[in-house]
Amino acid sequence: MTRKTQINQLWISVFIILALSSSCKHDQELANTVSDPTGGSTASNNNNNGSGCSPDSIYFVQRVLPIFQSSCAMSGCHNTTSHKEGIILDSYSSILTTGGINTNNPAGSKVYRVMLNNGEDQMPPFPSAPVGSSQTSAILKWIQQGARDNSCIATGCDTANVKYSTHIKPIISNFCQGCHSGTSAGGGINLVTYDGVKAVALNSKLIGSISFMSGYSAMPKNGSKLSDCDIKKVNLWINAGAPNN
Ligand code: HEC
Repeated sequence: MTRKTQINQLWISVFIILALSSSCKHDQELANTVSDPTGGSTASNNNNNGSGCSPDSIYFVQRVLPIFQSSCAMSGCHNTTSHKEGIILDSYSSILTTGGINTNNPAGSKVYRVMLNNGEDQMPPFPSAPVGSSQTSAILKWIQQGARDNSCIATGCDTANVKYSTHIKPIISNFCQGCHSGTSAGGGINLVTYDGVKAVALNSKLIGSISFMSGYSAMPKNGSKLSDCDIKKVNLWINAGAPNN
């Protein structure tokens, strides 16, 4: 590719991003018009550069996909190669086609119901930790809003008063816990408890892995890198001595 075509492509991307960025605020209205999840899969792609993420919207790329990636799409479970019961939960299109998403009856959607089951029918199965209630509510709300392939990266990063309970734990629950709980926890590292997180915070494996530093396994495994803002918060918390606050 010549330098000129590269520059042209760059300008086209900038234009598309600017054109789409204004649609973010209208998520709610747009969501209400999409009732058929498979029909909406191509038409509803609403990516933007985050000039105004709606606090009421649940964005698939940032909020929902990481939950499926860390709690369901691990190898041996629901990824493309090991699709237990034909259910694949590692991408938007496969979640929509195999996950039993029902925008007409969101709470009846299969992937959501099985997370709330008790005992043997619960997903992910024992000994993995159950998906947390903040995660299951986000999934339900996302389906209620039309189960769209939407994405929004918030601009600005509020790093004042970073605390384990309000900042770090939610990041771990969203992106890591599914693979790092129970007896089969990845690398034998359990991140459900504060003590487990503190251990990897203090031996530099936490920052090494989420920053994709060489010499560490990149985390979340098989997922996208955490946002710069989340990495910054984890870094600040570790530098403060990884307190249980
Ligand atoms: C899809 C499953 C999966 C997810 C999601 C995941 N991990 Fe891991 N993690 C593993 C496995 C498996 C290992 C063992 C090493 C390997 O296979 O790379 C591991 C290893 C690690 C290690 C040790 C790294 C090293 O170099 O010694 C740390 C620290 C870690 N994970 C933290 C995290 C954090 C923090 C998150 C969330 C941001 C996360 N993991 C998300 C599966 C996962």
